[in-house]
Amino acid sequence: MYLIFWTLLLLCILNSQKVCCRELFEVEFEWSHINYSWPSNLEYLEASAKGKYIPENVVFTGIKVYRDKLFLTTPKYRPGVPATLTYIPLRSNKKVNQPLIPYPDWEMNNDSYCGHLQSVQSMEIDPQGIMWVIDGVRIQYNTNCPCKLLLLDLNNSGKVIHEYVFPNEVCLGNGAFLNDIVLDGDHAYMTDNSYIDPGLIVYSKKANQAWKLRDRSMFPEENAPKFSVDGTPVTLKVAIDGIALSPKTVGRSVDRTLYYSPVTGYDLFSIQTSVLKNFSLFQNAKFRDKIKLIGRKQGATDGMMMDNVGNLFYTLVSHNAVGRWNIKTPFNNATILYQNNSSMIWPDTFGITQNGYLYMTSNYVSNYLDPNVELKLSSTIKFRVWKFHSGTMSYMYD
Ligand SMILES: *[C@@H]1O[C@H](CO)[C@@H](O)[C@H](O)[C@H]1NC(C)=O
Ligand SMILES: *[C@@H]1O[C@H](CO)[C@@H](O)[C@H](O)[C@H]1NC(C)=O
Ligand SMILES: *[C@@H]1O[C@H](CO)[C@@H](O)[C@H](O)[C@H]1NC(C)=O
Ligand SMILES: *[C@@H]1O[C@H](CO)[C@@H](O)[C@H](O)[C@H]1NC(C)=O
Ligand SMILES: *[C@@H]1O[C@H](CO)[C@@H](O)[C@H](O)[C@H]1NC(C)=O
Ligand SMILES: *[C@@H]1O[C@H](CO)[C@@H](O)[C@H](O)[C@H]1NC(C)=O
Ligand SMILES: *[C@@H]1O[C@H](CO)[C@@H](O)[C@H](O)[C@H]1NC(C)=O
Repeated sequence: MYLIFWTLLLLCILNSQKVCCRELFEVEFEWSHINYSWPSNLEYLEASAKGKYIPENVVFTGIKVYRDKLFLTTPKYRPGVPATLTYIPLRSNKKVNQPLIPYPDWEMNNDSYCGHLQSVQSMEIDPQGIMWVIDGVRIQYNTNCPCKLLLLDLNNSGKVIHEYVFPNEVCLGNGAFLNDIVLDGDHAYMTDNSYIDPGLIVYSKKANQAWKLRDRSMFPEENAPKFSVDGTPVTLKVAIDGIALSPKTVGRSVDRTLYYSPVTGYDLFSIQTSVLKNFSLFQNAKFRDKIKLIGRKQGATDGMMMDNVGNLFYTLVSHNAVGRWNIKTPFNNATILYQNNSSMIWPDTFGITQNGYLYMTSNYVSNYLDPNVELKLSSTIKFRVWKFHSGTMSYMYD
């Protein structure tokens, strides 16, 4: 009798721990500084000598997983970033300071040609294995090439299958900051958190045309709550940044909901994709009446991503945390899913695998963007790739 009682109690405790630990984010890979996989030692020495590789200046932001590769982007905020799109093997036993391998290769990462990759913040991979790369970080220490969208076939060694060059009025060749992208079949929606001309860019592949929606909800919020990262006050004002798209199945409608938020400010906004795709609502600016304020989050957000059952995962850079809200529930049901004040410093961007894992980067990125911060090489861990078992797939899958 007593034995049964104690066994049941023990089972209960074990079970509740299981529930608890599934909610845990774990560090899968970490780095003190970023190095690359060089073709030869000579090329490494040459790149170092010529200032083409300055290790303390390299930071990764974007992350996506496809089959056995974990892709990471290293945008060029400062000089000395020799490649901008890279990967590491997803299943690797080397967990610390794994060198990044340029993708598709070093040649496509040679920024001497505008057709090659220049400075990439993020990307998305569609269910056909096509990677949509936004090459549009056009800030200081950068390139004279216009912003572009490149489609790479991952089944075919990253061969370029489509290139769209943005007109300057949509994406400033000098001043743009294409930040994130979500895919809706033939359409792509992208955030541009340019200091000069922020907005939400719509691209139709069929029409091979892009347009930009501008609205004050996309600007940094005035009088936004202030916060520090690792003791350094964040003074940068950052516009629309994270975006997430509702899955097709939620609401059973083809009209999907796009969510977005500026980094500076706590508000979460939404707009229907039927509105985004409607060119006349863009031309007469009536789309502005259709923007909804969903509510105020617990903190300031950089990246966001939705899964296929309507969970919106959003970073909380002001709180070293990740939040989760299921869009089928009231917004005040949103919770902080995980927080770690010593290691989750500037949680940035998400990717979801097809077998139920959410990956996320954290990277102290504000230090790299703020030119007043002096960067130093040290053995302190600064960059992490986190893993969380969501048990779901990304918003692009049924
Ligand atoms: C980068 O990698 C190369 C080749 O493995 C190595 O020789 C070099 O010391 C590394 N540099 C840094 C800064 O990690
Ligand atoms: C990039 O291409 C230019 C022009 O062909 C060439 O001079 C340069 O050596 C290349 N850079 C690298 C790192 O391969
Ligand atoms: C790439 O491979 C996947 C898995 O085999 C397949 O589903 C997809 O259709 C392929 N994509 C293209 C563009 O052929
Ligand atoms: C665009 O929106 C307007 C106003 O709601 C509507 O009348 C029109 O049919 C829409 N156009 C398309 C192509 O959906
Ligand atoms: C919202 O959260 C409350 C309190 O945790 C819970 O009782 C309720 O079921 C949740 N609502 C939905 C729709 O999940
Ligand atoms: C992180 O720091 C905040 C603010 O000091 C504190 O409220 C919170 O409990 C801390 N979180 C953890 C998990 O220690
Ligand atoms: C916070 O992160 C550190 C470093 O990765 C880790 O050792 C620690 O266990 C984490 N804390 C919690 C509560 O997960």
